[in-house]
Amino acid sequence: MKINKLAPGLGVEITGVQMSELEGEALNSLKAQVYENGVAVLRDQELSPDQHIAFAKRWGGIDVNPFFPTNSGWPEIAEVRKAEDQKDNIGGGWHTDHSFDAIPAMGSILVARELPPVGGDTLFSSMGAAYDSLSDGLKQTLGSLRAVHSADHIYQPDGYYSKTDLAGEMTGQDLSTRAVHPVVVRHPVTGRKVLYINGAFTLHFEGWTREESLPLLRYLIEVGSRDEFQCRVQWQPGSVAIWDNRATWHLAMNDYHGHRRVMHRITLTGEPLAA
Ligand code: SIN
Repeated sequence: MKINKLAPGLGVEITGVQMSELEGEALNSLKAQVYENGVAVLRDQELSPDQHIAFAKRWGGIDVNPFFPTNSGWPEIAEVRKAEDQKDNIGGGWHTDHSFDAIPAMGSILVARELPPVGGDTLFSSMGAAYDSLSDGLKQTLGSLRAVHSADHIYQPDGYYSKTDLAGEMTGQDLSTRAVHPVVVRHPVTGRKVLYINGAFTLHFEGWTREESLPLLRYLIEVGSRDEFQCRVQWQPGSVAIWDNRATWHLAMNDYHGHRRVMHRITLTGEPLAA
């Protein structure tokens, strides 16, 4: 396994392994890379949808996203798709997957299936580094707060995606989502403190109104999206990214209009989060 850093504080690129063959100690080594570095991009993978699912099961289990189109005959795989004539994309704002679940997904495994000739990169940001950068006073305040997360404003039949050209892509299921998590979470594996709010799904602090919450939420979102905490994954045919949803945010660049992009995503089962 050859490992190169993508940025000083976040992300590694891994070559020289095939995920379809990884198990036991070799799989544990890859897991350690993802937990320590937030995201790992593996190059030159030959991974069929069945092998993608089998790998996720070996990692520890799959959380099916009930809102995304599967459309490929594999219900475990969410298809993150943008057509040539589509304007908006999925995941185009900073977010972490499934924070609206009581037990949020541990992470995601995203496989490049069809790529635009250029563009369509994915940016990641380190929530451990963002937290570390805050003053002791703000850390103390945040340490006593919990926040309410939901995806209803996005995925409900009258939600954000229904008003965009993605409407036909989503399953539009009338499912209600709501979860409350500490604003600062201790990472279940590394023990590092991480900022656990995000721009897409965090509505307000528990016991605060949305109006009261917005100024502080906006500030934290600005901190979390600073360049210095980021790394960029430039996709190539055969690339697969595995990231830790507790330790990172991500954002899918929407800069390849007129071209099709298709990614296969599996979300990995997580564990309860605690302060
Ligand atoms: C996602 O938000 O999970 C998808 C990211 C991407 O398509 O690059």
